[in-house]
Amino acid sequence: MKKKIAVLASGSGSNLQAILDALDRGEILDSEVVLVISDRKEAYALERAKRRNIPIKYLRAKDYASREEFDRKVVCLLEEAQTDLVVLAGYMRIITPVFFLSFKQRVLNIHPSLLPAFPGGHGVADALAYGVKVSGCTVHFVDEGMDTGPILLQEAVPVYDDDTVETLHERIRQLEHKLYPKAINLWVQGKIKLMGRRCVINE
Ligand code: GAR
Repeated sequence: MKKKIAVLASGSGSNLQAILDALDRGEILDSEVVLVISDRKEAYALERAKRRNIPIKYLRAKDYASREEFDRKVVCLLEEAQTDLVVLAGYMRIITPVFFLSFKQRVLNIHPSLLPAFPGGHGVADALAYGVKVSGCTVHFVDEGMDTGPILLQEAVPVYDDDTVETLHERIRQLEHKLYPKAINLWVQGKIKLMGRRCVINE
């Protein structure tokens, strides 16, 4: 039976696209994207999913009394879709512990810095402002903290003197599009063993 992946996205969805393309090319095995959820109506990620006939859901934060209520609704939708793996792809909300009752060690995130440096919503700008010479991206399991979960894969890119937030982010995005599908495939193939904070990969 195929593993069912749900993607949560708030933005352009280029990572979602990379995942869908990797599925098409057979680089993520025995899996399908069954649902895309966004907290932003205008997120282009929803459009990308619609084009592929993937069910989409937009949830408006204002309609929920608290973050927990919002997440309870998200979890309910994920369960209805029989989701095996939740993939955060540019999802700009902090998820609450409500998630982990149902999806412990089954939520992945991608972050545009070499964690634990520069967590949060402005990873690229913060790294550039700090003056780092190397940055990159991190795929990690999501836990209760902000970008603190066990690291699954990480890769670096150089930072150039004339970089802007946009040029650096674009270089990182290109890397993300390779790293996220690779990490997802490792997860669906059951090749990751969590030992405390450390992810051991059995290729
Ligand atoms: C990605 O670069 C991702 O790492 C980042 O948002 C971008 C989404 O791009 N996520 C975060 O900053 C999370 N803190 P996309 O919508 O084109 O996939």
